[in-house]
Amino acid sequence: MKSPIGVFDSGYGGLTILKEIKNLLPQYDFIYLGDNARTPYGPRSFDTVYEYTLQSVKWLFAQNCPLIILACNTASAKALRTIQQKYLPGFDNQKRVLGVIRPTAEIIGKYSSSKKIGVLGTKGTVKSASYLIEIEKSFPGIKVFQHACPMWVPLVENNEYYSEGADFFIKKDIDILLKKSAEIDAVLLACTHYPLLLEKIKKHLPENIKVISQGNIVAKSLADYLQRHPEIEMKCSKNGTLEFYTTDSIEDFDKHSEIFFGEKVNSSHIDL
Ligand code: DGL
Repeated sequence: MKSPIGVFDSGYGGLTILKEIKNLLPQYDFIYLGDNARTPYGPRSFDTVYEYTLQSVKWLFAQNCPLIILACNTASAKALRTIQQKYLPGFDNQKRVLGVIRPTAEIIGKYSSSKKIGVLGTKGTVKSASYLIEIEKSFPGIKVFQHACPMWVPLVENNEYYSEGADFFIKKDIDILLKKSAEIDAVLLACTHYPLLLEKIKKHLPENIKVISQGNIVAKSLADYLQRHPEIEMKCSKNGTLEFYTTDSIEDFDKHSEIFFGEKVNSSHIDL
């Protein structure tokens, strides 16, 4: 039986990824789950992020998804490996869960000539050092400077991304990152919520510094994965449908999702 691909995020952020995936692979069916009731994940402990992510993964598997994308850096950093190595083998080794960190790390080097890259993410992502480890594997010559921006996700989730308050925190965090090295020539937005702040991020960064969002990178990597794994691809249904689920209010989700996803969304509520 063929079923939709699952896409998970702690809230709205993964919609910036799903938008690009859908543009590139419109023929597939997708189920999006946002754990808005418990967002943000960024400041939470390893165990909590693992527990919450696993609950969401279990729910998506219960909808029959053969493949789930953790469209959340924090969940990818803190839960993905344990899910892949400890949970999946005992549950169903025909199912797959993929994240957003490895595909990004595998390509990031081509954006920098100075070989100095800035990474902005949540506390959880930065603390996990996942980007340092993964970028080192693909581009050993590149030096990565990280900085956590704990205020950015709340600004986005509370629809304050256009406000003067957002400018204050964005400038403050960018200044801290750039003080770590004058040679940074590319900055990765290592949180799926941050593309919503793109305009302001660009405003506070020198023009010569490239800003990299992950949506496109993750979409291309998924397309490539499906091509390389026909045994998974053949289990993915293709009617071009989208379903959206949130653990919080559907009114809020439908109202705000349009900004992240670029089109109107009709969600349903679930409890995890
Ligand atoms: N969107 C998520 C990420 O990419 C995390 C947001 C949160 O803190 O929940 O890291």
